[in-house]
Amino acid sequence: MLIAPSLLSCDFSKFADEIIRVDRAGADIMHLDVMDGHFVPNLTFGAPVIKKLRKATDKPFDVHLMISEPHRYIGDFAAAGADIISFHTECDSDIDETLRLIEESGVKPALAIKPGTAPEVVLPYLDRLYMVLVMTVEPGFGGQSFMPDMMPKVEFLKREIAKRGLSTLIEVDGGIAKDTIATAAKAGVDICVAGTAVFGAPDAKTAIDELKALCE
Ligand code: DX5
Ligand code: ZN
Repeated sequence: MLIAPSLLSCDFSKFADEIIRVDRAGADIMHLDVMDGHFVPNLTFGAPVIKKLRKATDKPFDVHLMISEPHRYIGDFAAAGADIISFHTECDSDIDETLRLIEESGVKPALAIKPGTAPEVVLPYLDRLYMVLVMTVEPGFGGQSFMPDMMPKVEFLKREIAKRGLSTLIEVDGGIAKDTIATAAKAGVDICVAGTAVFGAPDAKTAIDELKALCE
């Protein structure tokens, strides 16, 4: 299991140091939550901040766009150093066009679905996706409870990926902790985002090691 700490739960007054800290603690991927106060009822940071953080680590930047019009900003996030960009099928941008912009910028494309969205929505695009992000909480805030009833979506997508002979990864985001990660692993998840479970722990390395061990 790959662990992607969600920087949403870090101490923003020392953002770069927090990235360096979880990098050394064994984080596989850095998950960066971009919120516009419109698609979700919360605001975070944008491409200029991500650009400044890029030099803190060589680990991949997984940029999760919780914004209404992602197509307007793909170029900015690509230039800022995003490795993966995920945007929501529920957004106002044209999905096909937004995927094309991500593809053309050389970034790995991903589609995210909220808890109320059926996984079938991503099927027309599956062959083009590096990853599908299945939300296991309503997007907007860290520290919410994991929704185990999202696992059938993961299983459905894994079956479809296997059937088509693809290597698309499945990521889950929200409520991943010591008591929930085994459920995600069993469903076939490849990447777990973890905010509170990593940044709320006394020691990040112990937290990441424990989460990984629970998937074996
Ligand atoms: C929620 C964000 C998540 C969040 C996860 O909208 O997309 O990445 O930070 O936080 P935890 O792990 O605390 O649920
Ligand atoms: Zn996220």
